[in-house]
Amino acid sequence: MRFSILLVDDEESIRDGVAIALGPLYDIRAFGTAEEGLASLDEKPPDLVLLDIGLPGMNGIEALRRIRETHPEVLVIMITAYEDVHTVVSAMKFGAYDYIIKPILMDGLETTIGNALESVRLRKEVRLLQERYLQDNLPGFVAQSDELQDVMKFIAQVAKSPDTPILILGETGTGKELIASAIHYRSPNCKGPFVTVNCAAIPKDLVESELFGYEKGAFSGAGPAGKRGLIEDAAEGTLFLDEVGDLSLEAQAKLLRFLENAEFYRVGSTKKLSLRTRVVSATNKDLQQMMEQGLFRRDLYFRLGVITVKIPSLNERRGDILPLAHTFLLNFSSKFGKKFTSISPEARDALTEHRWTGNVRELKNVIEQGVLVGKEPELSLDDLGLAGQASAGGKARSGVDAVLRARPAIPPEGIDFEEEERKFRKRYFEEALRMSGGNESQAARLLGLNHHTFRFRKKKAFTPPKRG
Ligand SMILES: Nc1ncnc2c1ncn2[C@@H]1O[C@H](COP(=O)(O)OP(=O)(O)OP(=O)(O)O)[C@@H](O)[C@H]1O
Ligand SMILES: [Mg+2]
Repeated sequence: MRFSILLVDDEESIRDGVAIALGPLYDIRAFGTAEEGLASLDEKPPDLVLLDIGLPGMNGIEALRRIRETHPEVLVIMITAYEDVHTVVSAMKFGAYDYIIKPILMDGLETTIGNALESVRLRKEVRLLQERYLQDNLPGFVAQSDELQDVMKFIAQVAKSPDTPILILGETGTGKELIASAIHYRSPNCKGPFVTVNCAAIPKDLVESELFGYEKGAFSGAGPAGKRGLIEDAAEGTLFLDEVGDLSLEAQAKLLRFLENAEFYRVGSTKKLSLRTRVVSATNKDLQQMMEQGLFRRDLYFRLGVITVKIPSLNERRGDILPLAHTFLLNFSSKFGKKFTSISPEARDALTEHRWTGNVRELKNVIEQGVLVGKEPELSLDDLGLAGQASAGGKARSGVDAVLRARPAIPPEGIDFEEEERKFRKRYFEEALRMSGGNESQAARLLGLNHHTFRFRKKKAFTPPKRG
């Protein structure tokens, strides 16, 4: 790899001297003014800038400030005519990597540049590893639509600051978890761990000890050795709080304290612990409404959502539907040893027009099912099982109306009414689960049941009566 260096110095002898001494090793561009240097930098950013402080026109400190703003990845070494402590200090404060003092000794210059470029090389290597890791860990991540492209660009920007909390909002199945990991692997924290906590899955009275850990004997049932919490596991990395809208008010208060001063106590301990991690959280709940109802703390909302990322629903980014469908088609084909290569025009139309309540997850399930039951090599409309579904434009019609309009078929020998009724119910549970992509809360909502009733009735509907 040949590094490129941009030199800005108003002394011609220095420009020539550096070009002669370093020209064989690096690509050197030299300019007499900051204005020219910045223009060239914008055109093609170098790996390193050697920047004189005392320049005619814009001075070196001002130029440094601009470079740091527009090209934070470019290293800058300041050149100063004399060891003016104040100027050097302010240069370092503005983010200069190092400085050298005139008269320039070529040996010293080579060493300083060599060190700087070594760190550039390391950074590039890390970025390469990061990219490769992303490729391996987010295979088939599809973001074709302008809407999702915008989100990804925004994420790439905000991921750079390693501490800023980020709140991801979006309907169920829009890819919040994938986006959270994308943030981690694009951030400086990528060398640290990515720890996922599903706040909805931890029993309410264990949230605190799971998150913050506990001291031995902290409560009955606490292990004899004590335990570190998930927050400690995420030190120097990313803590992903999934379904954060499901945290109890009590847990919210503890989390708030941690976010405010990066300090916490293990349950049952008086020893203050402190660490650095980035908190990314996600929810498909309407936090605004929860705050109005007093179910979610306003102060915590603002702490978690210093940066808020809203993932558009699949219906709001239809440009992603077909690329996603094709990706899933190929993935499931190879997984199930099938030979699907395409999707029929009618099926494509149906996919594009369908109203996706379960978003990407629902689409993924539809394609998976199609690949399992369909006839190769082309996925047809029938294989999707979307017929009779509410489309994007149309209004959903309750299926019961259609059933009620037809007379029920009762054969002369009679039927098992209970069993018929159970099968009838079961179809509704299956359909709601299919639409929600398997998400029970969402399915319950579709059927107008609360989660508890949903579970209870679903279990009954799925359990055939014992015969005998
Ligand atoms: N852009 C995408 N490209 C490829 N696959 C995706 C994309 N977005 C989501 N998926 C897939 O869709 C499924 C749902 O995504 P994910 O679990 O991230 O959604 P979520 O927003 O966290 O949903 P929930 O709110 O229900 O937890 C996953 O299998 C995921 O791999
Ligand atoms: Mg999720």
